[in-house]
This record gives sequence, C-alpha cells and structure tokens, in this order.
Amino acid sequence: MKKTDILRQIDAAEAAYPRISDEKYRLRFHLMPPVGWLNDPNGLCVYHDTFHVFFQYSPEAPDGSGRKFWGHYTSADMVTWEYQGTPLVTDSIWDRDGVYSGCAFTDDGDLEVFYTGNVKETGDFDYISDGRQANILYTVSKDGTNFAGKQLLLTNRDYPQTYTCHVRDPKVWKQDGQYYMVLGGRRTDEHGAVMIYTSPDKKVWFLLKEMTAKEAFGYMWECPDLFEMSGKWFLLCCPQGLPAETERYQNLYQSGYFLCEDFTLENSDYTCHPEAFCELDHGFDFYAPQTFTDGRGRRILIGWAGIPEEERYGNAPAIAEGWQHALTVPRELTFDGELLRQYPVQELDLLHGEGLSLDENVIQAAAFDLQLTLAGNDQSVRFGDDLVLACTDGLITLTFLNDTGAGRTCRRARLPKGQKGIKELRILKDTSMLEIYINHGELVFTTKYYPSDVTKTELSLTGTVCTLQLWELKKMD
Ligand code: FRU
Repeated sequence: MKKTDILRQIDAAEAAYPRISDEKYRLRFHLMPPVGWLNDPNGLCVYHDTFHVFFQYSPEAPDGSGRKFWGHYTSADMVTWEYQGTPLVTDSIWDRDGVYSGCAFTDDGDLEVFYTGNVKETGDFDYISDGRQANILYTVSKDGTNFAGKQLLLTNRDYPQTYTCHVRDPKVWKQDGQYYMVLGGRRTDEHGAVMIYTSPDKKVWFLLKEMTAKEAFGYMWECPDLFEMSGKWFLLCCPQGLPAETERYQNLYQSGYFLCEDFTLENSDYTCHPEAFCELDHGFDFYAPQTFTDGRGRRILIGWAGIPEEERYGNAPAIAEGWQHALTVPRELTFDGELLRQYPVQELDLLHGEGLSLDENVIQAAAFDLQLTLAGNDQSVRFGDDLVLACTDGLITLTFLNDTGAGRTCRRARLPKGQKGIKELRILKDTSMLEIYINHGELVFTTKYYPSDVTKTELSLTGTVCTLQLWELKKMD
C-alpha cells in the first residue's frame, strides 16, 4: 500500500486522541501510544543532541491485532517528549505485514535504522518453519525524522539452514572500524539463539558466529543487545519457552541478560550458560528492552512495560479507553562487579514537584516518587486494596490482592548477595503503573495496575523506616 494512504489511515485512527488523552488510566510521565497499542522500544539513540525513541506502534487496534509501524518521540532531556508521527510504515514489499523491531545507528553522521520487515505469505504454512519472510531492512534519515528509501540487507535464504523463519530484531554497533549486528532467532532444533554478523560497510553482512546455550534455554530469543561494560560483555535477550520456576521465569516470556565471561568478538561460537542468566525485571510487565549510550557515556535502558500475548491474562482496562501499554522510564545501567543495576536516569528528578508528606498514610497525587531507607528483614508496602510488596528474609514478593485475571497473582525474586532485607526502596508511581527499584536497582519490579481512584494511594508500611522522601511527579507535557 502507498505510504500516503497508510498515513491517512493512521491520521484517522489518531483522530481519537483528544478523547483518549483525558482517560482515567492515561499516564503522566511514561511514554504511551497516542492512541492504540505500543510494544517494543526501537531505534533508541541520541542524534544531534536530541534523544530519539521509536516504538512498535499499532494505532488502529489497542489489543495489538493491527499493523505494526514505528511511532517516534523526541526529547532534549528524556523527561519532556514530543510525538513526531510514524516515520516508518508498511509501504514496501519487504515489510508489508509489519515494520518490526530494530535499532538506530548514528556514529557515521546520519540516523541510520536497521529493522525487521515482516511478510506473511498466504497459503498453508505453519509460520514457524516457513511462510514468513524475516527481512532485515535499512533506511536512513538526515534530519532525524524523515527517512528515505528502504534497502533489503538480509532475508531467509541468507540465514543458516539450522534456523526457522523466525529471525529478527537487529542491533548494530561499530567497534575497531568494523560493524557488527546481532539478530535473535529460533533454530529448527527449538534452541533460542543469537547470530552475530559483521560488515565492512553496513550493507553486506557476513555471519561471524552464534551464541546459544548447550541445552535449549527457550525456543526463541527475541530482541538481542550485546555490549561491553566495565570490561565485561553482556548479552541481553528475551527467551521464550522457559518453564516457570518458583522464584524465576514467572511471566509468559522472559527478559534478562547473560554475563558472558571470556567472550570476545574474535573467538568462535559462544556458549551461554543458563546459570549466568539474570532477569532484568521481576514485575508483571516487562519485555524487549533496548539500550543506547548517550553523550555522557551512560548506557541507558528503556523497556516495554508489557509482555506479548498478555491478553491471556485478561487484565487490560486501558483497552476500553482505546490504548494499551507504555515504556519504562529511561534507566541508567551500571555493573557493580556482580550484577547489572538499573536506576532511573537523574533527569527524572526534573519532574519533582512539591515535596509531600505521608499524612494519615495517604498520598494525594496521581504520580509520585517515594524514596525510603529501611532496616530489618521483614518489610512491606501495601498500595490500597490493590497490591503488596513484601520482603521476608530476603524473599521479595509482589502480590495482587484481588483476582486480576489468570496468572497475575504473585511475582517473587530473591535479594542478591545473600541480603535479607531491603535497605533502599524507590517507587515511581504513575497513574496506572509502578516501577519499584530495590537496593539501588539490584532488583526491579515493573507492573501496571488499575486502582479504582488513581489520584490517591493509601500506603501502609511495615518494618523500620529510617528515612522517607516523597515528591509529586509533574505531568510531562
Ligand atoms: C517482541 C517482538 C519482536 C518483534 C516485535 C513485533 O515483543 O515480538 O521480536 O520484532 O515484537 O512487534
């Protein structure tokens, strides 16, 4: 379909914005779709001193059943964002069924984008081994908002025969004058894996090696991101098909990282060790994160506050408002020698409004930033009748108090390094979302929730509270 026709259809869907913008559960400081559905963050970068966040966007259907395009936000400070429209739509033969996930690359002066073009052939296919084109496409922008031309770089015939037609989500970087790309995939033997490609010119790509586990660790790894930090290599990816354990892998699909000891770009295929896999977020809603580095050298992660096929959980009141899902706040990543910590970028403090007190345990604000220091090993924070975060001897639980639908009951995680209690707790509460950072981001829980009154939160704390700071968070626009 022609781009102008698709843009007209998007305009028609976005005409619902004035009504949706005031709906009860719309967020104050998280990035949401203007209307309809959002999933993965894509193309995160800084280009000409501006932060760019693209995202999987389906304005026509808040349940995710519509065509996927790239929506686009820009910001000077990662706090106030401006919507820039839909620069990439399904207007070519290589991406006609979806402009799927990908990345941006800016080191050579332009804003270059590598992404997945999804094409589903019609016919009698199982869509795992065949019937789907897994195209890797390239496009470029000189002004950061308008993209010219699309070029096919890789397609099914270019991947090893050991792969199904599920190959996607390129992430590109440059090192020592050479370009590298990771791609996530599903092998025919039901191993999730990542392929590393290399290129002298960003156009012609050669398979360098593969990263996977010896025994299958999930059947598919989506959204890979590979980078070096503090002298260690980390592979972020989203394995699908891990059986749930009592304290791990409790969502339908997982998102985490392998700390890749002894990895180098030069050596051959790399074996990832399941025991070195660490989940990035233990809440009910987190998937498909991507990282980028900014001008200050910080590595910043933004995730999708949602998970695929979540409709199985039947907990989506925002759909009735005509939208669904959001991105997490930008989080700075640091490696403390043992694990990656995530913490909201400092710029978030710009949203601090009035300092509040916890009068009669009620916080009168739709959005707030609560920072506590605590003592002891037995602690809890209860959010009205909705949910409770508790620490019992090092085991953290986040539990919904009412039945919100199958599966959304309790999430568990253990404090690392043998710790027994929460020492530091930061809670970012938005209208219908919580981001909970424990012990300076050693554990994080991201969770959507839908309180009956979004403007005030009854908060009950147990345990020893040493200090408490509380700010209202201003609406970002
Ligand atoms: C992850 C994902 C990606 C894909 C995109 C499509 O949530 O499935 O693998 O590119 O979403 O929207």
